[in-house]
Amino acid sequence: MTDLASIDYFSDPVVSQNPYDYWDFLREQGPVVREPHHGVVAVTGYQEVLAAFKDHDHFSAVNAIGGPFPPLPFEPRGDDITEQIEAHRHLFPIHEHMVVMDPPAHERARSLLAKLLTPRRLKENEEFIWQLVDHQIDQFIDNGRCEFLSEYAKPFATSAIIDLLGVPEADRPAFLAALGAEQPRGNRVGSLDGEPVGLDPLQYLDDKFAGYLADRRREPRDDVLSGMAGATYPDGSTPELMEVVKPATFLFAAGQETVTKLLSAAVQTLGDRPEYQETLRENPDRIPAFIEESLRMHAPTKVDFRLVRKTTTLGDMRLQAGTVVMLCLGAANRDPRKFDSPNEFRPDRKNVREHIAFGRGIHTCAGAPLARVEGKVTVRRLLDRLRDITIDASVHGPAERRNYSYEPTFLLRGLTELHIEFTTAG
Ligand code: HEM
Repeated sequence: MTDLASIDYFSDPVVSQNPYDYWDFLREQGPVVREPHHGVVAVTGYQEVLAAFKDHDHFSAVNAIGGPFPPLPFEPRGDDITEQIEAHRHLFPIHEHMVVMDPPAHERARSLLAKLLTPRRLKENEEFIWQLVDHQIDQFIDNGRCEFLSEYAKPFATSAIIDLLGVPEADRPAFLAALGAEQPRGNRVGSLDGEPVGLDPLQYLDDKFAGYLADRRREPRDDVLSGMAGATYPDGSTPELMEVVKPATFLFAAGQETVTKLLSAAVQTLGDRPEYQETLRENPDRIPAFIEESLRMHAPTKVDFRLVRKTTTLGDMRLQAGTVVMLCLGAANRDPRKFDSPNEFRPDRKNVREHIAFGRGIHTCAGAPLARVEGKVTVRRLLDRLRDITIDASVHGPAERRNYSYEPTFLLRGLTELHIEFTTAG
């Protein structure tokens, strides 16, 4: 039996496999609790997480991804550390990406993304996704089994963003390879053929998009990339090239792993709760609620961080400027004050869409509509084309004693692999 009081959330391998018992332990002490190892204030209450997300004046997003790692590059002084944050911002991980920006820089970066994620672009992308789903299922359907993450979810999630950004057809195989999401086995649709794929996928993406956008700025065409290249700020000024490149390339970082985790959690539920297969096949209009409940129960971004910029209060706790706050989305989504029987998977609950898996406030997930479409279309077409989806007991053990392994990270929650078996329709 693990002693929950002595656990270090950030490094304990047991907690990375199952954070829920630990969060319940914290919750018993209150919705806002200081953990003893790093002095991080952990927030498990739904209302309290929401309040912190919405209060970007007191809570800076500068440490959203790393939390207490690396440690602050300065010694916080006084009740307002805004100036210290700004003076050291360039020392924080991924400081050039919008997710860690604060107003007004955040507003400018996000305005460029809004030019890219237009309703029209999302609609065209959804049409592509319907075809992509079938293409991806074709790769494994004749085998009667698959490892769902590598054979479906990863290449699917990556291809969806590649299309969203309008990457030219000929370059798509190289993108998939660079991002570690190649088609498995003999199904590759191209080779790298001298393409200089670096070791750092984000660097590769920055270089490729800088090239595309510079090209489109010189010679605009009738394509998505030209639309991005010509995007301007709300005041009409033209961004530097890299100010357009970063929001575009960040979509890969934000939307690949998270969607893979959502899709695998949903399919895991279909395998472990086979009654949903027939219900959803006969009532596809219930699939969106099934996806929402998957997001609530298995929040792929399990925690998110903020740095207290101005001394404030959250719940009953006074938070000194400079405090690192961990917003536990996976815990808030199971707050019994918000969700009845929170540990039960119940897609018919009335407030099923009120989960907080996509965050809230100014940084609320820009890719949520895409993630929802990817989830809905995947479940729909899997149920149309496959029958009797079961979890492969030879890998994951029998139904009463499943053996699932989760990524050992403090940030994300998702299976490392998911082996399923199935028959085919008709
Ligand atoms: C199930 C899948 C996803 C989950 C659970 C998820 C979760 C989140 C969360 C919690 C945030 C807020 C971070 C914060 O406030 O610190 C966020 C932000 C963001 N997400 Fe997602 N995300 C998903 C899919 C996607 C996809 C598919 C894309 C794009 C193609 C995307 C793009 C973004 C961007 C650009 C931001 C930053 C927004 C900003 O800072 O203004 N996400 N996401």
